[in-house]
Amino acid sequence: MKSYRILVLPGDGIGPEIVREAVRVLTVAGQRYGAAFTLTEAPVGGASIDRAGVPLTEEVLKTALDSDCVLMGAVGGPKWEGLDYSVRPERALLRLRKELGLFANLRPAKVYSALANTSTLKREVVEGVDIMVVRELTGGLYFGTPRGVETLPDGRERGVNTLVYTTPEIERIARVALGIARKRRKKLTSVDKANVLEAAELWRKVVTKASKDYPDVTLSHMYVDNCAMQLVRDPRQFDCIVTENTFGDILSDEAAMLTGSIGMLPSASIGDSHHALYEPIHGSAPDIAGKNIANPVATILSVGMMLRYSFDMDGAADGIERAVCRALDKGLRTADIYQGGTKKVGCKEMGDAIVGELSGKG
Ligand code: IPM
Ligand code: MG
Repeated sequence: MKSYRILVLPGDGIGPEIVREAVRVLTVAGQRYGAAFTLTEAPVGGASIDRAGVPLTEEVLKTALDSDCVLMGAVGGPKWEGLDYSVRPERALLRLRKELGLFANLRPAKVYSALANTSTLKREVVEGVDIMVVRELTGGLYFGTPRGVETLPDGRERGVNTLVYTTPEIERIARVALGIARKRRKKLTSVDKANVLEAAELWRKVVTKASKDYPDVTLSHMYVDNCAMQLVRDPRQFDCIVTENTFGDILSDEAAMLTGSIGMLPSASIGDSHHALYEPIHGSAPDIAGKNIANPVATILSVGMMLRYSFDMDGAADGIERAVCRALDKGLRTADIYQGGTKKVGCKEMGDAIVGELSGKG
């Protein structure tokens, strides 16, 4: 039997409760599909600041580097918002992405038929939407230097961030996206702002060149402002989207809302090495933390992505997706996706139902 080491980082807010359900699903998936998972749990983000004074300790980083992959909940909350940027909870996530070399962030936005009515857009616009946003994750505006706030001699302050990409950084994310598009509907939209930004002009050139090795994939280019509009106008035109770090941060939240709730969407962060990190795309939602009302599905589906991308366990990943669909088809809904005529359940009950479906006792 194959055995894997997984670092589990529940984090802050609703992180611990959603991760708890996802870990139960992972354990059952291991039993059913024949893999052994050794889990190590550690604090990260605000939880780590409270215990160790920093959002990510060197020890936890080392454990991450020694693990086969990381399962993460969410970080941050009002308690730590006043801190300097260099020690905010979010730094833990950014540092993990950078140190593990996770330059590609896969964010699928898929509309479940059972939930199409919970979207704020009309059913006929969102029904059947199935988009994969591939976000560049370790470069661009998030990491570029120079950065910071300086005080000028006349007392004015000046804040700086830099949007920078090198050819290899663009090429490797383009190849990941082209490879994913190839396994889907073979359509890739590269999103940039090449009408204004030089870095985006380079982006467009390099993506176009890389696409020559994928003649079966149809590549098109779109400006980011237009893409934001097209996503709500006619989202079904998209198959796979590849874009810069910040654009991807924004567009993936927008794409998420097409599906009805950001509480449904998983993500995978991968790179060239065997390292990977799996997390829901939503945040720590401190306002509902500890109340058993959070939706664990995004984190559970992130476990599905882990089994698929890190461990080649496609059957187990399909099993988890099917179990989620069955729980939804039976009318179970957490508060974020609740509608009249369905059954409102808590985080734990949703976890119970999915575990039940997965182990064949649903
Ligand atoms: C995300 C989040 C993070 C990001 C934050 C928490 C640093 O919004 O994963 O999309 O901006 O990348
Ligand atoms: Mg975000």
